[in-house]
Amino acid sequence: MTIISGFSRLPRSKKLEMLLGKLNDREKALGEIESYRHPDPEVQKLHDEFSENTITNFHLPYGIAPNFLINGRTYMLPMVTEESSVVAAAARSAKFWSARGGFRTRVDQMIKNGQLHFTWKGDHARLKEAFPELRERLLEGTGHITSNMKKRGGGIESIELVDKRDVMEGYYQISAGFDTGDSMGANFINSCLEEFGRIFKEFLRTDQRFGEGGKEADIIMAILSNYTDGCLVTAEISCETDRLQEIASPLPADEFVRKFCMAVRIADTDIRRAVTHNKGIFNGMDAVVLATGNDFRAVEAAGHAWAARSGRYGSLSESGTENGRFFLRMTIPLAVGTVGGITGLHPMARRSLEILGNPGAKELMGIIAAGGLATNFAAVSSLVTSGIQSGHMRMHLSNILNLLGADEREKEAAARFFSGKNIGYAAVEAFVNAMRKENNNGNQY
Ligand code: MEV
Repeated sequence: MTIISGFSRLPRSKKLEMLLGKLNDREKALGEIESYRHPDPEVQKLHDEFSENTITNFHLPYGIAPNFLINGRTYMLPMVTEESSVVAAAARSAKFWSARGGFRTRVDQMIKNGQLHFTWKGDHARLKEAFPELRERLLEGTGHITSNMKKRGGGIESIELVDKRDVMEGYYQISAGFDTGDSMGANFINSCLEEFGRIFKEFLRTDQRFGEGGKEADIIMAILSNYTDGCLVTAEISCETDRLQEIASPLPADEFVRKFCMAVRIADTDIRRAVTHNKGIFNGMDAVVLATGNDFRAVEAAGHAWAARSGRYGSLSESGTENGRFFLRMTIPLAVGTVGGITGLHPMARRSLEILGNPGAKELMGIIAAGGLATNFAAVSSLVTSGIQSGHMRMHLSNILNLLGADEREKEAAARFFSGKNIGYAAVEAFVNAMRKENNNGNQY
């Protein structure tokens, strides 16, 4: 294997040249790569600078799920997803629930956290005793980083010494809580934590109580935690059981509720089902997270860890009946921002926020959670009634037809022919080929 050095420093034309050498149909590939670049050089430059070694852009569909009634307000949810049927599922649930009180969401607090991880060879009691003083130094010493955030009502909320010697010899953390307001705040938190490291070292070096000039401490790393259990959002839908009849059909509403609740309980007891169940929740959540320029990897990582917080991975949502009312609800950690980072830079992320009425971070958390609950409701409803394939198949057929370059006439004929049938690539290809052959022979389908 040849190692490529200095790739990032090469001009785009050279990078492209190296890539094209790996592709079969060079001219066609070049045409495709170029066609995905933005015609406005300024916009393209902006996108190039979001990442590194950028060659072109990768388009994903941007859809809208209307009729989301959330805490009494109606939203159109911008959703970015490549998965056919996610937007349709969200929109179907949203419309259904808009006539049944809509989604209720709640965020109690928004505290993020991060840790300075270090080992300590010195005396535990001395470290513990000096910590209140060190805490003051850490707060003072990060003042230049936190002053702007403080003006916006945020900043460092807590700093604790955590003794972790039970898991590893000499291991400690300085663990801090941060209020980053409407921003995601990752850079802010990491800057504070790295500064903690420098201040801590300096504190040890200059304090008489620590004889070895700071050598007792070995700083391992400073980094925020994506386990954002201080940023929990709860979303819920509920209605009288008999008001579910429309979606329950052909089942009676109470039978639908029994099966629905059973399906959610199964997800809570079986990891194989739980992961798929939760994936159905992230279908809706990630799409809005992406559309608003937020970090879906962080949201997913926190969500899955939360699903395993009891030591066993289970369902993120729960359902049941209370006083004759069916409910589906979930509480999930969700750290997102509405200012700073890509949210303010990416033109479509800005538009998404505008479409949502420029929410603050707490409101956006509720919107995203509602999106996730909507796709979860749609998926489980289908699973316990018609199954998901009938809905998926229509989109699947459309994707296959597009791959085959089918025209409108072929698409209409295929939709008629495959209605109610199982759809696979080979069958659709055979159908389209037969149609084209007939056509060449002068016959019309
Ligand atoms: C497909 O993307 C998502 C579902 O599998 C979710 C679920 O099974 O609950 C339909």
